[in-house]
Amino acid sequence: LKQHGKARAHTNIALIKYWGKADESLIIPMNNSISVTLDKFYTETEVTFNPEYKQDRLVLNGQEVTDDEATKIYRFMDLVRERGNTSMYAHIESVNFVPTAAGLASSASAYAALSAACNVALNLNLSDTALSRLARRGSGSACRSIFGGFSEWNKGYDDETSYAHSIDANGWENDLSMIFVVINNKSKKISSRSGMSHTRQTSRFYQYWLDHVDDDISDVKDAIHNKNFNKLGEVIEENGLRMHATNLGSQPPFTYLVPESYQAMEIVHQCREAGFPGYFTMDAGPNVKILTEKKNQDYIINALLKTFREDQIIASDITQTSIEIIK
Ligand code: DP6
Repeated sequence: LKQHGKARAHTNIALIKYWGKADESLIIPMNNSISVTLDKFYTETEVTFNPEYKQDRLVLNGQEVTDDEATKIYRFMDLVRERGNTSMYAHIESVNFVPTAAGLASSASAYAALSAACNVALNLNLSDTALSRLARRGSGSACRSIFGGFSEWNKGYDDETSYAHSIDANGWENDLSMIFVVINNKSKKISSRSGMSHTRQTSRFYQYWLDHVDDDISDVKDAIHNKNFNKLGEVIEENGLRMHATNLGSQPPFTYLVPESYQAMEIVHQCREAGFPGYFTMDAGPNVKILTEKKNQDYIINALLKTFREDQIIASDITQTSIEIIK
């Protein structure tokens, strides 16, 4: 008997970063993190379990995938089979909806959508918490993509206790948006997985990171509670830069940032001086993401357009819900 499910999940961007694992196989992080879930970027995944299938199969954006990424997903499917008490293999069809092809696909929305689709297909009846724990096993940041708005991943200390929950912002997320500056990077990519592992093991600045991240978490929660945008922005900008500083303290050092990243950061600073505040954050790549209030979004976009092309700039609202089950 075939079993089928389809779901959509949205991407999230960390405001307080997850950077370093306490347990690499269970994906337990060294620190809590906080993100916002975006409206414009999402993944839709359809999964079909069939007793006649001889192996798992992954089709991404219409193309069959057979590389390391596929192997990672098949290992994840073993966890799903365990929870569903089944030995059936699955065919997975996944489509990333991102406004451009410039490397903005995210493992967060991918594993959140796959978890939600499997939850439906195998009637797992997982709660949001259980779904978050399952998605975490695919990619850490995916556990936050079960929720819309602001989401916090509590690091926990084992598989049971490490999962995300939503932070009630009293609708404030409706006033905010995120502007992406898409910067094409020709240099060889270091995945977030290997980057954070190398940094945690070798960075002279890693302990400093750990010593300050809990304060950042509570400052962000206070800022959300008080709807204090400038406070929120100051903390997230500092936290993001501190994460990138840990990479520079690694042995050997590395960085994800390129000259265009710094150009974008500089424009954000200039906008702030002109009275149009936005605050930037960067992940395991050169792209710059700017958190702003919607009322100032157009000013910042126009400032960016003096340096960047129109197709390099994408603005997105924050979505209230991340997971949607598709019939
Ligand atoms: C810099 O969730 O991609 O984006 O758990 O190894 O799959 P794995 O890593 P991943 O790391 C995301 C790192 C980050 C910060 C963040 O999203 O919190």
